[in-house]
Amino acid sequence: MQGLYPTIWQRIGADRHFSGAATWRLPLKKGPATTTTLLLFFVFVFAAFLSSSWINSSFSSIFTHCMWYYFNLQSTFSATKGIKEDIIILKHQRKIPKRIEIPLNCSTGNETQTCPSNYPTEKSETEINDDPSSNSTCPDYFRWIHEDLRPFKATGITRDMVERAGRTAHFRVVVVKGKVYVEKYRKSIQTRDVFTLWGILQLLRRYPGRLPDLDLMFDCDDRPVIRSSDHHGPNATAPPPLFRYCGDQKTLDIVFPDWSFWGWAEINIKPWESILKEIREGNKRIRWMEREPYAYWKGNPFVAETRKNLLTCNVSEKQDWNARLFVQDWILESQQGYQQSGLASQCTYRYKIYIEGWAWSVSEKYILACDSETLIVKPKFYDFFIRSLQPVHHYWPIRDDDKCRSLKFAVHWGNNHKQKAQAIGRAASDFIQEDLKMDYVYDYMFHLLNKYANLLNFKPEIPEGAVEFCSETMVCNAKGLEKKFMMESLAKGPSITNPCTLPPPYEPHVLGVFLRRKTNSIKQVEEWERRYWESLDKKQ
Ligand SMILES: *[C@@H]1O[C@H](CO)[C@@H](O)[C@H](O)[C@H]1NC(C)=O
Ligand SMILES: *[C@@H]1O[C@H](CO)[C@@H](O)[C@H](O)[C@H]1NC(C)=O
Ligand SMILES: *[C@@H]1O[C@H](CO)[C@@H](O)[C@H](O)[C@H]1NC(C)=O
Ligand SMILES: *[C@@H]1O[C@H](CO)[C@@H](O)[C@H](O)[C@H]1NC(C)=O
Ligand SMILES: *[C@@H]1O[C@H](CO)[C@@H](O)[C@H](O)[C@H]1NC(C)=O
Repeated sequence: MQGLYPTIWQRIGADRHFSGAATWRLPLKKGPATTTTLLLFFVFVFAAFLSSSWINSSFSSIFTHCMWYYFNLQSTFSATKGIKEDIIILKHQRKIPKRIEIPLNCSTGNETQTCPSNYPTEKSETEINDDPSSNSTCPDYFRWIHEDLRPFKATGITRDMVERAGRTAHFRVVVVKGKVYVEKYRKSIQTRDVFTLWGILQLLRRYPGRLPDLDLMFDCDDRPVIRSSDHHGPNATAPPPLFRYCGDQKTLDIVFPDWSFWGWAEINIKPWESILKEIREGNKRIRWMEREPYAYWKGNPFVAETRKNLLTCNVSEKQDWNARLFVQDWILESQQGYQQSGLASQCTYRYKIYIEGWAWSVSEKYILACDSETLIVKPKFYDFFIRSLQPVHHYWPIRDDDKCRSLKFAVHWGNNHKQKAQAIGRAASDFIQEDLKMDYVYDYMFHLLNKYANLLNFKPEIPEGAVEFCSETMVCNAKGLEKKFMMESLAKGPSITNPCTLPPPYEPHVLGVFLRRKTNSIKQVEEWERRYWESLDKKQ
């Protein structure tokens, strides 16, 4: 275990007093329809009160991912849906059981930091809100959990399969009796591994005693590696189950939320919960109609050919493809304290382009959160939530083989169908605010890990080289932004609500219909695009 994150724990006796900076919000679960009347009443009472506080808005910063010295930035701000959530909070406040907060127990002076032995490890030790209305069904994208685990369903998962997944893994996580043990294989890019592990530890603080024993391999690199073609046919070996941040059509890697949900210290991206709140508060500083009527992108073009190719669509003296494209210089930004990257100026356009880099890009959720219409250049990769989004409803599809003409038409269409374009932007930002809030990110991890653990047909044991991990060993001696983000994203104590209920797997024909609908909407847009260009060519 030597050499594992020396920056975090080989420091002794750092500060032991923390002021919990984390936002600890009341759980927002969907209420039953019968409370509508009550809700309406509150709407009227509070609308007047709240509306005055909406006027001021603050902005939120953000941005993205990729190879470690190159980044791509986008920033966002978005509409709030404050009123609805405030009301739901009111409705639930009456019945909420007492929330227990369990502070970190950081050791004093030169003592070695240990993991606390008194953290609850059983569900019964924590108070759970058993009010039936607190049970809610998880958003639809949770259904992909079943799809991602399908390749392992027939055979189950053996220890050998897990160990084979170790070939490219950065670390192995073993949970035994509610405690987490980590075996480190190699250093990841930046602090991806640190914040991913931190996220898993927070999941356990949130739902103590509710995760079964498990044993998994995690690869923090960008691109998926378990090719399905290698595990196909009569004599093929069973695929190794490998966790990572994104997948594609040809691979079987299991997708898991990326590190940035807990913060990206290297480029000053705060934990997701704080960002969502800022975005909510940012509430429409510039209304959609008043934004620049062009497609905007700012990022690092050097990570992928497709991005370099995108830059050819920039406006020039000779032509205007309705695109305004900029290069992000992260080194310069960091020297200037990221003042540019956090600017509202990035959300002053009606249309924002999302384009993949070396693989999927972390920038995706920040772009979608902005109230602008997102133009997605045909992606090759998927993360854990994107598969449930529908083209033309949540975003506008852009061809990857004819980007400039495709962009020009997308913007033209939006500016001629302003209500619809605005609605597309709003559908995406609603999805991000509601279905991708931190509670659901944890619930996704919870269900994925539970289902995964159910497939193991061996009893997980603590590997020889593994070390016990807990929030204390990670954060007590951490410094700087790493410490700040960890404290901010700390789960202060066990959740008082159950996780949402996992929806069943897609019926094969329902999944078929869903995917066909997606393909057809994209085809429809391509057809509109073709006709648009045909009519323009005729005029000339
Ligand atoms: C903190 O941990 C120490 C041992 O590491 C233990 O003696 C002490 O009781 C713990 N404090 C709390 C409040 O749990
Ligand atoms: C820890 O500090 C105490 C005094 O504060 C000292 O007596 C002791 O030798 C130190 N132990 C180690 C291992 O450095
Ligand atoms: C709520 O969900 C939990 C499990 O998530 C289940 O045990 C319980 O029976 C559910 N309650 C109701 C009223 O459906
Ligand atoms: C699979 O294994 C069987 C028996 O070991 C062998 O006869 C057959 O040729 C193999 N098939 C392939 C495609 O390798
Ligand atoms: C794109 O065009 C704008 C406006 O002329 C310019 O400011 C910007 O630097 C250009 N972007 C690139 C990547 O050349």
